Amino acid sequence: MAILVTGAAGNIGRHIVSNALEAGTSVRALVRRPAEAQLPADVDVVPGDMTDLDAVRRALDGVEALYLFPVLDVVPAIAQLAREAGLRTVVFLSGAWTAGLSLRDRESWTYAQYVEAEAAVEAAGLEWTMLRPGPFMTNMLWWSRSIKSERVVHAPYAAATCPAIHEADIADVATAALLEPGHAGARYMLTGPAQVSQIEQSQALSAALGEEITFDELTADQWRDSVGRFLRPGIAADLLRDWSETAADPASALPVHDTVQRVTDKPARTIGQWAQEHLDAFQ
Ligand SMILES: NC(=O)c1ccc[n+]([C@@H]2O[C@H](COP(=O)([O-])OP(=O)(O)OC[C@H]3O[C@@H](n4cnc5c(N)ncnc54)[C@H](OP(=O)(O)O)[C@@H]3O)[C@@H](O)[C@H]2O)c1
Repeated sequence: MAILVTGAAGNIGRHIVSNALEAGTSVRALVRRPAEAQLPADVDVVPGDMTDLDAVRRALDGVEALYLFPVLDVVPAIAQLAREAGLRTVVFLSGAWTAGLSLRDRESWTYAQYVEAEAAVEAAGLEWTMLRPGPFMTNMLWWSRSIKSERVVHAPYAAATCPAIHEADIADVATAALLEPGHAGARYMLTGPAQVSQIEQSQALSAALGEEITFDELTADQWRDSVGRFLRPGIAADLLRDWSETAADPASALPVHDTVQRVTDKPARTIGQWAQEHLDAFQ
């Protein structure tokens, strides 16, 4: 069996690649910068951008399953190409907000776009599994620069909370859905094992580093100004709303889901484990 992994050089994709190789599956990866991707030698690398549908067509030839990274503009076309290429299944990286559990999710900038993308995947007419993770533990990497240089986190809403998930857990569920039967038609809400506030996340990093990290609590405006060049305004607004509401009312956070345990038969990884495994990014 062979699978195609898009986003293969990313946080989740990289783990899917290694999981699948370990399981004895042939892995093809569509990557736009093969030299920098640093994928294992036995991966069949197809150079190309996901928006280049000829490259996608080439990459899909002869594979049975697809991990689809959300380059939203081309999701409908790629799902259709997957169908035409005779794939059995597509596993789409969506997001927890797509479930529309809260008003802020339904009013978020991303909601309608992902609902549409999931609908296009469903409409393509092959088997599908939706991965709907909540906030990633990798979001802590946003703090790496200031932690490295001054042992400080500059962020708003220290009390904001979420059930942050380890990227390897998302990849483990994705791998199960790609390689094993029984996941067709599932919309998997994926979270870590516990709610962790922003201050608790910084404390987990502090404990792993064995050094104190100060939380410099910014105002929303200060933070918006500091990320203005990197984040789209819609995403910044969604994040600020989520943080302000969960800081004021932690019970309004996305609930913890036990999907990782149910699908993989292993407990979801903790924030402490993530911090230990990513020390290099912070020292
Ligand atoms: N952060 C969160 O809390 C959160 C929560 C739920 C869902 N999500 C979703 O998760 C995604 C991030 O996943 P991740 O952490 O695994 O990603 P990541 O580490 O940012 O990696 C993304 C990979 O996809 C590749 N890629 C992006 N656009 C491409 C294109 N047009 N053609 C070919 N390759 C392309 C990138 O290639 P290069 O290496 O060439 O750049 C990169 O290797 C986001 O898109 C978001 O929608 C995030």
